[in-house]
Amino acid sequence: MTRSLILALGADHGGVALKSRLAAALVEAGHEVQDYGTDGTASVDYPDFAHAVCSAVEKGKADLGVLICGTGIGMSIAANRYQGIRCGLAHDVTTARLTRAHNDANVLALGARIVGDEVALDILRAFLDTTFEGGRHERRLAKLNQITEHTP
Ligand code: RB5
Repeated sequence: MTRSLILALGADHGGVALKSRLAAALVEAGHEVQDYGTDGTASVDYPDFAHAVCSAVEKGKADLGVLICGTGIGMSIAANRYQGIRCGLAHDVTTARLTRAHNDANVLALGARIVGDEVALDILRAFLDTTFEGGRHERRLAKLNQITEHTP
């Protein structure tokens, strides 16, 4: 993890333990962490935490977001409904690297019941260490914005 970044973190009850682990590693690496909860193991609804993190990223309060639930799927579905968010769900380092390089993902979704803590840490490092390649991918991101404007 190279540059110093502001990261917005959010999780539901399925991801709260992993969120703590990642937050500690991020602070240790010199990053600033904004923790949007949840804070305990009581059952909560993942869209509420996706909303908090995605709003912080959209408003420029944070450089990037990390969302964690049991599978990462609910968080990624929720996050990708926000106009300014490109959320990549990654269960491995390669996907994490490519979602930054090709999709310019600004939010990473993780499944705490799918990957172990060490794999999640490696995924997060790959996500933070990779920059967007631009070029042909710019055109594709512009088309994503057109999809957002689509009405049936
Ligand atoms: C919560 O039980 C679980 O549904 C949630 O963490 C997530 O996996 C949803 O996609």
